[in-house]
Amino acid sequence: MSFQIKTFEEYQDAYQRSVKDPEQFWGEIADNFFWKRKWTNVLSWNFKEPDIKWFEGGKVNITENCLDRHIYQYGDKPAIIWEPNDPTEAHRILSYKQLLNKVEQFSTVLKNNNIRKGDRVCIYLPMVPELVIAVLACARIGAIHSVVFGGFSAQSIADRINDATCKLVITADGGFRGTKVLELKSIVDDALMQCQSVEKVIVLTRSRTPIAMLKGRDVWWEDEINKVETQGNPPCPAEEMDAEDTLFILYTSGSTGKPKGVVHTTGGYMVYTGYTFANTFQYAPGDVYFCTADIGWITGHSYIVYGPLSQGATSLMFEGVPTFPDAGRFWDIVEKYKVNILYTAPTAIRSLMAFGDSFVEGKDLSSLRVLGSVGEPINEEAWNWYNEKIGKGKCPIVDTWWQTENGGHLITSIAGVTPQLPGYALLPLPGVQPCLMDENGNEIEGNDVSGNLCIKFPWPGMLRTTWGDHERCKQTYFSTYADKYFTGDGCYRSPEGYYRITGRVDDVLNVSGHRIGTAEVENAINMHSDVVESAIVGYPHAVKGQGIYAYVIAHHHIDAEKTRQDILQTVTRIIGAIAKPDIIQFVDELPKTRSGKIMRRILRKVAEDDLSSLGDTSTLQDPSVVDAIIQGAEKIRQA
Ligand code: WT7
Repeated sequence: MSFQIKTFEEYQDAYQRSVKDPEQFWGEIADNFFWKRKWTNVLSWNFKEPDIKWFEGGKVNITENCLDRHIYQYGDKPAIIWEPNDPTEAHRILSYKQLLNKVEQFSTVLKNNNIRKGDRVCIYLPMVPELVIAVLACARIGAIHSVVFGGFSAQSIADRINDATCKLVITADGGFRGTKVLELKSIVDDALMQCQSVEKVIVLTRSRTPIAMLKGRDVWWEDEINKVETQGNPPCPAEEMDAEDTLFILYTSGSTGKPKGVVHTTGGYMVYTGYTFANTFQYAPGDVYFCTADIGWITGHSYIVYGPLSQGATSLMFEGVPTFPDAGRFWDIVEKYKVNILYTAPTAIRSLMAFGDSFVEGKDLSSLRVLGSVGEPINEEAWNWYNEKIGKGKCPIVDTWWQTENGGHLITSIAGVTPQLPGYALLPLPGVQPCLMDENGNEIEGNDVSGNLCIKFPWPGMLRTTWGDHERCKQTYFSTYADKYFTGDGCYRSPEGYYRITGRVDDVLNVSGHRIGTAEVENAINMHSDVVESAIVGYPHAVKGQGIYAYVIAHHHIDAEKTRQDILQTVTRIIGAIAKPDIIQFVDELPKTRSGKIMRRILRKVAEDDLSSLGDTSTLQDPSVVDAIIQGAEKIRQA
């Protein structure tokens, strides 16, 4: 890992070089990867269109970088360690050699099922090694994967499949999460009633839940593998991909109702995830690295699969939940596998903290060397607990700020290399040029200032477009400020020049580290036949970070409690249980301006129980609406 930064001076030097001559800088880093043919041009870009190309002319396959090139040196080294949901079930370890064999086998299965370069494949699997195998097999033959998190509903899957016109779905009979069984295949069956493009479904055996298998459409994963074995396991060479060929689509929520398919391409994403993985966490050969995310989110794509594997790391994946069989599960796993690097989310830390220290006490966490945090700002109390109880005060904590659209870490401390400060993502990684903007579109220079966070120069891991709708990509990220990528986050820069992310400045919520658009939840609620109108805002939640607060106007004849339950059920159906409101308040009216716009600021203040700064309500159509809402909120708090 010759591009690893080891000291703060080296960081400063790398940063300077990356700004002075980005092409030279990234070209040298990209030289650490295996290219079938070298690029002719490191970077061409404009943020107007946007049109961004990294390593143009380069030919590459990311799976050769994640698998083949490690075989000589690391063939027998564990690539994936898998810890099952149920600790009494056997764990699994796949060496690099074994993982490559399985990826080649399944690549052949994909080809046998008529999947070719450029075809889209939807993956809806639990956190089992076959999920990694399926993802890499797609990448090996140049098929574009679209992984959908196992918590999404049939409707959400259908929307994503249709948007990308997927030809194939890979799923399992069911999945285990704590004490629950997720009926994955049955949910896929519901989704597919709305999907014309899907020709085949490959079904992995996991839970042995009874399922329907449709003749001509559904095939078993194991049967397909058997066929390949009977053919004598022919090798499956890696497809030659252009650096700018699409590697995957991953859907994420924004301020409109419809999730967008963020598109990442091959070469830049590979270089960026590998570089940031090695640097942020200071991975050392032999380390066991444990990221607790689900591969259904970008964190899992970049920092369970591609980043660690391209660096020859041992990546531990966990099928279950942090509280099963009890709230000590993470610490059992750390002890069992002697985990050196742990990467998790503030919401998980807060939830485990609430169970008390007894679940940590007596666990041997002495292997831990580096701790990471991702997904939302980490509050000081959680930071201190993580530092003292888990890190025993001796592990650097890296607070990694980034987004689905970014591909990898943008602003983060580097373990043991840069300073660290609770609540601060700290400093931009080399190649990342952040700036703070005011409402008038001017850059705010200097320190001890706050503004909207933008990035003014491309980095290799950034999104290239949103699937099927380039205009939307342009509008969402590149139009708010001329020639800048707008993150949607607010940010403070301290007197020392350190960055502290203060949260979203748009209508996007961050619930347990998951991004949820308020418009999306409103649309789902409004589908309920008793609902006239609704407005969603976030409010501070002790464990989730943000909770979902719904103001709902419903028809008068209703039974409030029943309607509440029905609304929750509706949201679960339309989006998934992750988007269920924590609080539903029925109201007669919503506070609207004379032009009919909902004044969310007021709703937010009421939800936060912060009435001191309600602001001017005189521009409302009917200011008395606010008093009624305040009284209603008061009642809910008392109940
Ligand atoms: C949003 C992106 C890619 C990470 C997983 C979430 C918030 C993320 C941090 C952090 C403060 C953070 C931002 C960002 N966020 N990490 N370390 N500190 N805020 O990815 O679903 O694309 O959400 O999560 O608000 O915009 P995502």
